[in-house]
Amino acid sequence: MTDRPVALVTGSSRGIGRAVLERLSESHDCVVHYRSNLMEAEKVATRIRDRGARAMVVCADIGSEQDIDAMFEQIGREFGRLDVLVASAAATKFASLNHTQRHHLERTLSAVVLSYHQMVLRMMPLMGDAARIVAISGLDARFAQAGHGALGAAKAALESLTRSWAVELAPRGCTVNAVLPGAINTESLELYFRDDQVAREAMVKGTPLGRLGLGTEVADVVAFLCSTAASFMTGQVLVLDGGASAEGGGWSQFRELWNT
Ligand SMILES: NC(=O)c1ccc[n+]([C@@H]2O[C@H](COP(=O)([O-])OP(=O)(O)OC[C@H]3O[C@@H](n4cnc5c(N)ncnc54)[C@H](OP(=O)(O)O)[C@@H]3O)[C@@H](O)[C@H]2O)c1
Repeated sequence: MTDRPVALVTGSSRGIGRAVLERLSESHDCVVHYRSNLMEAEKVATRIRDRGARAMVVCADIGSEQDIDAMFEQIGREFGRLDVLVASAAATKFASLNHTQRHHLERTLSAVVLSYHQMVLRMMPLMGDAARIVAISGLDARFAQAGHGALGAAKAALESLTRSWAVELAPRGCTVNAVLPGAINTESLELYFRDDQVAREAMVKGTPLGRLGLGTEVADVVAFLCSTAASFMTGQVLVLDGGASAEGGGWSQFRELWNT
């Protein structure tokens, strides 16, 4: 068993997950998780090792019960412990609900909700006295967002599971929280924009701070939740969205009308 605490961040081969794991590698040995892009996952592991932490790379489809079980067996064999779980990877089909079939919804719920429940169950035998669990939610959990009907339903369930796990795991000293980012500059967000610059600009305009967020900014909040500074905080959702939700949905387009 390793002496340093160990962190698993799902979907850490790129995007928000990568930024979070690289930040946690300052104090943790790391599990780099990916689904399809081994080369990117290996690059992340190399950067983490260069900074002096241990890193293992695991492949798992989070929509698969067998893959998740196999991933936790590998982590148990390699490290013998797991102190931090960050559930970041998500998979969905962006579409209006009108174009969403039952199997699309089932796949999204499986990748986001069922995987989260299963991963926490699998983590329990590996966790010590002060484990930390963080789920990555999204504004779609609270607001209807175009194309996000299925993912929003899954993220709302993710937040609910977070509160229930927080209460159930509190006697073990484990905290369970969620982080809710607004628009963060990642490849997945670019896919959502479909190369439409107008849509991109509208997103920036709908954010009072006037820019997209960075993966490193999400990483700082997750690192806070995983630190002793947040040891009395559990069952909560921390929002970092450049003020988007403070202004509330579609009203942002009227901002300039009243700027006098
Ligand atoms: N980007 C934003 O603006 C934003 C805003 C709010 C919330 N979020 C949330 O933040 C999280 C991370 O988002 P992101 O933008 O960084 O991109 P993402 O597309 O959700 O995550 C990319 C990572 O997830 C892995 N992944 C994708 N599908 C998978 C599957 N079925 N099984 C296992 N791994 C899978 C990818 O691995 P491979 O590349 O190897 O396939 C990659 O490492 C998500 O939960 C997302 O909903 C993002």
